[in-house]
Amino acid sequence: MNKFRSSEWFGTRDKMGFIYRSWMKNQGMPEDMFDGRPVIGICNTYSELTPCNAHLRDIAESVKRGVLEAGGFPLEFPIMSLGETLLKPTAMLFRNLAAMDAEESIRGNPIDGVVLLTGCDKTTPSTLMGAASVDLPTIVVQGGPMLNGKFRGEDIGSGTAVWKFNDALKTGEMTYDEFAEAESCQSRSPGHCMTMGTASTMAVMVESLGMSLSGMAAIPAVDARKKRIAQLSGRRIVEMVKEDLKISKILTREAFENAIKINAAVGGSTNFIIHLTAIAGRIGVDLNIDDFDQLGAKMPLLLNLMPSGKFLMEDFFYAGGLPAIINQIRSELHMDVITVTGKSHAENIANSTKIYNSDVIYTYDAPLIPEAGTTVLKGNLALNGCVIKPSAATPALMQHTGRAVVFENIEDYHARVDDPNLDIDETCVMVLKTVGPVGYPGMPEVGNMPLPKKILDKGITDMVRISDGRMSGTAYGTVILHVSPESAIGGTLGLVQNGDMITLDVAAKRIHLEVSDEELAERRKTWVAPPVMASRGYASLYINTVQQADKGADLDFLVGCSGSKVPRDSH
Ligand code: FES
Ligand code: MG
Repeated sequence: MNKFRSSEWFGTRDKMGFIYRSWMKNQGMPEDMFDGRPVIGICNTYSELTPCNAHLRDIAESVKRGVLEAGGFPLEFPIMSLGETLLKPTAMLFRNLAAMDAEESIRGNPIDGVVLLTGCDKTTPSTLMGAASVDLPTIVVQGGPMLNGKFRGEDIGSGTAVWKFNDALKTGEMTYDEFAEAESCQSRSPGHCMTMGTASTMAVMVESLGMSLSGMAAIPAVDARKKRIAQLSGRRIVEMVKEDLKISKILTREAFENAIKINAAVGGSTNFIIHLTAIAGRIGVDLNIDDFDQLGAKMPLLLNLMPSGKFLMEDFFYAGGLPAIINQIRSELHMDVITVTGKSHAENIANSTKIYNSDVIYTYDAPLIPEAGTTVLKGNLALNGCVIKPSAATPALMQHTGRAVVFENIEDYHARVDDPNLDIDETCVMVLKTVGPVGYPGMPEVGNMPLPKKILDKGITDMVRISDGRMSGTAYGTVILHVSPESAIGGTLGLVQNGDMITLDVAAKRIHLEVSDEELAERRKTWVAPPVMASRGYASLYINTVQQADKGADLDFLVGCSGSKVPRDSH
């Protein structure tokens, strides 16, 4: 048998081996668990404070069963869990911290292969980033979406419903009692958001990259088939260790290209760009913001899921799941790249290509929208780019010039947006500053800022909005996000004033502030940076080292991979 990495801990016949084994035995482990079999770390992002992942303790048991069946030694460990709904000021601030936690927990321990249990938005990229920087055999078990929300005879989608109901409450279309009732109707089972929000986008990304067993992304959290595939994943990781199938063999440039195209075909979240870029940075694959545009923008939208469409993840699963989509766009993909199964996508999906509901999954030849991928815009307002998700935007607004109405920061926005005297109409462009990685800090999901009440009262539901922040993958609208460089570090966005004209032209991939270079240079002389929001602790480290959105917003010193070697011993 090969000698695995864990034998450096458990395989020695000296004081060190005694220390490494003896304390482990306090958990009741028999002698032969230390006989050199593959040790499988189960990296669990379970937490009751991350409701989307709260069922993962249970899923871990299925994974363990599989590991044991295949002759491995499973050891479950927790890492920092990031819940989108509760964490302030934004879970994104801590994505890189959780990635550090994952990386060091994997590298520092006697682990030969790792299973990442993920769910809520940031728990997937953070664990993948960390694992990529260690480069051991790695497989992902996505926790799965909640069952469809059901409210008064209608299917409602997590997040997407909240934005709609919030507007309806503001205009009086909905009473508070109805609003409160909808809370329990939306989230009625374990699992993550069941729209094509960021969590579902990340689950799809994982499968597209070849990092999970095929067909896993869309299985609802509570469907028995989720446990079944979790158990199979446990078996598979043991084989991967024996085959030395490291994550770097799977995460190739081709795999990233596949992920970009598949993300476009499913109408994935704009957050995908930031997370995929950060993962690529860890594994050393050259990927930049223009790749997303070149590979993704012309891709057709095949999946009819909220927020771009009508259905939800449960419907996606019953309609055939991701294999059916991959099959439809196979001519666009690298079908021969290797995945965690040790086989190619083509082999993985050979028996699961059928579409069972053509209202949910469209075909490549007759797509829902012909060109729908996230588009990257550039111009003097975003020299290093910004993004828009056309499938979630209003077609009539995709070419638009409007007067800027500027909010200097999120507090300014909240204080004035519903003021009846605010000088704004539906042709204006709402500009929000100081919500980028450095400025907020952490680049929160506030870019889809709700419209002023007086505009909603007119029955208007969309306006052009621009910021250096992100938006929830469950949100929609003509929203321009991730402006880089951000306002707080002196990007042009920081120089925009009320009354400036801004031109958006999605077809031309252009975003332009109609102010001369000379005038901008003048404004720059008197520009004052907003206050720095933290002077100690992790937030301070983050502010000082975070890269801009177009680079994936990773901390600069975390980019790259250090491998799994630990140079010194602990005793
Ligand atoms: Fe966790 Fe949406 S809040 S997935
Ligand atoms: Mg989200």
